[in-house]
Amino acid sequence: MKPVKVGICGLGTVGGGTFNVLQRNAEEIARRAGRGIEVAQIAVRTPNPNCQITGTPTTSDVFAIATNPEIDIVVELIGGYTVARELVLKAIENGKHVVTANKALIAVHGNEIFAKAREKGVIVAFEAAVAGGIPVIKAIREGLSANRINWVAGIINGTGNFILTEMREKGRTFADVLAEAQALGYAEADPTFDVEGIDAAHKLTILASIAFGIPLQFDKAYTEGITKLTTADVNYAEALGYRIKHLGVARSTAQGIELRVHPTLIPADRLIANVNGVMNAVMVNGDASGSTLFYGAGAGMEPTASSVVADLVDVVRAMTSDPENRVPHLAFQPDSLSAHPILPIEACESAYYLRIQAKDHPGVLAQVASILSERGINIESIMQKDVEEHDGLVPMILLTHRVVEQRINDAIQALEALQDVVGPVVRIRVEHLN
Ligand code: HSE
Repeated sequence: MKPVKVGICGLGTVGGGTFNVLQRNAEEIARRAGRGIEVAQIAVRTPNPNCQITGTPTTSDVFAIATNPEIDIVVELIGGYTVARELVLKAIENGKHVVTANKALIAVHGNEIFAKAREKGVIVAFEAAVAGGIPVIKAIREGLSANRINWVAGIINGTGNFILTEMREKGRTFADVLAEAQALGYAEADPTFDVEGIDAAHKLTILASIAFGIPLQFDKAYTEGITKLTTADVNYAEALGYRIKHLGVARSTAQGIELRVHPTLIPADRLIANVNGVMNAVMVNGDASGSTLFYGAGAGMEPTASSVVADLVDVVRAMTSDPENRVPHLAFQPDSLSAHPILPIEACESAYYLRIQAKDHPGVLAQVASILSERGINIESIMQKDVEEHDGLVPMILLTHRVVEQRINDAIQALEALQDVVGPVVRIRVEHLN
C-alpha cells in the first residue's frame, strides 16, 4: 500500500522530535500502522540543527501544507491560538486529518474545531496536548470508558513542578529555577503560562471534557499560580507530612464540576506527591476502576513526539473507517455532551492549610478557633511555632477538614480583622486524593 503523506507545520522542539522519531522508527511504525508514514513537506522558518531534513520538501508558509493536495494529515506544531486556529480550520476545510500538540488551541477553540471536523468527516487528534509523552487522553477516552469518572487530579506542568521540587530540595530561588527550565526548553514561550497555571488549566480543561463528557470551557477554569508560595510554607507543609504540588483538579459533584488549578498540599506518602522535577502525573478515579495513576515525561522533544506519532498511527488506522464509527473527539458522542455546570471556586470544596501570623497575646488561639467554629469549619490540627525573632510574631498553622470555599473566605476575612492578627492569612488548599 502507498505510504500516507504527512505535512509537518513547525520544526521546533516537538516538530523536530516528530520528524526524527518518524525517520528512526519508520519500519516499526509502518508495521503498526499497516502503511508507511512519509513526511511529504515541512513548514519551517528556522532550521533545526537536530534534524537532517535534506531531501524533504520545505516551505516557509504553513498554509501551503494545509492546501497541498498530496498531503493526507497535517501536523500542527506551531503553537499559539491565532495562526494555529486558521491553519487547522483550513486543513479541515481541505479534507485533511489533523494531529496537534497545541493545548491552548484545543482548550480555547476545540469546540469549534471539532464541530468543523465532524462536518468534514475528519479526525483531529491531540494526545500530545496533555502531559507530553503520557498517553493519558487515550487512557481516559478509551481505556476507562466503562467508568463514571469521579475525579482527575494531575501535575500537568513540568516547569512548575521542576521549580517546586528545586525550591524544596535545594532551597533555590524561584527565578533561578525558572531560568534553567527555560534554557532546557520546557517552559512556554511566555513562562507566565507555566507559573500562573494557565498551561495547566488548558490541559485540565481538556481532561475534564473527556472525563465527564462536557464541552471545553477553559474560561470557567479557576487558575492560581505558584509565584506567591514561600519557602516557609513549603517547610511547614513538610513538617506536617505534606508536599506542595501545583495540581489541576477536576471533580464531578452533584452540584456541578469543579475545575481548578492551584498549589495544593498532598500527603507526602501518596505516589503523586513524589513526582519530582519536570515529570508529570495524572490520577484518574473511576467508579469501577478505582484510582489509577499515569506517570511520565510531560514535555521535551521525543516524549511529546511519541504522542504525536502515536496519533499519526491512530489516524492512519482509522482514516478509511466510517466517521460515525470512530472514537469521538471528546470521548462522548457529540449529541450526548452534558450541560452539568462548572462550579465557581467559592462553591468548590476542599480541606485547607491556613498560616496566621499573630501577636503573642493570651486568647488569640481561642479567637481563631471561635471564628472557625462559628462558620462550621472543623479543625484537623494546629501547629504553633516559637515567636519569630525578627518580628515578634507567632506563626500559627492550621489544617481544616473539607469545607466549601466560601466559608473559608468568610473566616479569613474575620481572622484578618482581628487586632492580634498581622498581615494576610496564607491559605493553601489540601487534597488527600483517597
Ligand atoms: N510548558 C509545558 C510544561 C510544556 O512545562 O509542562 C508541555 O506542555
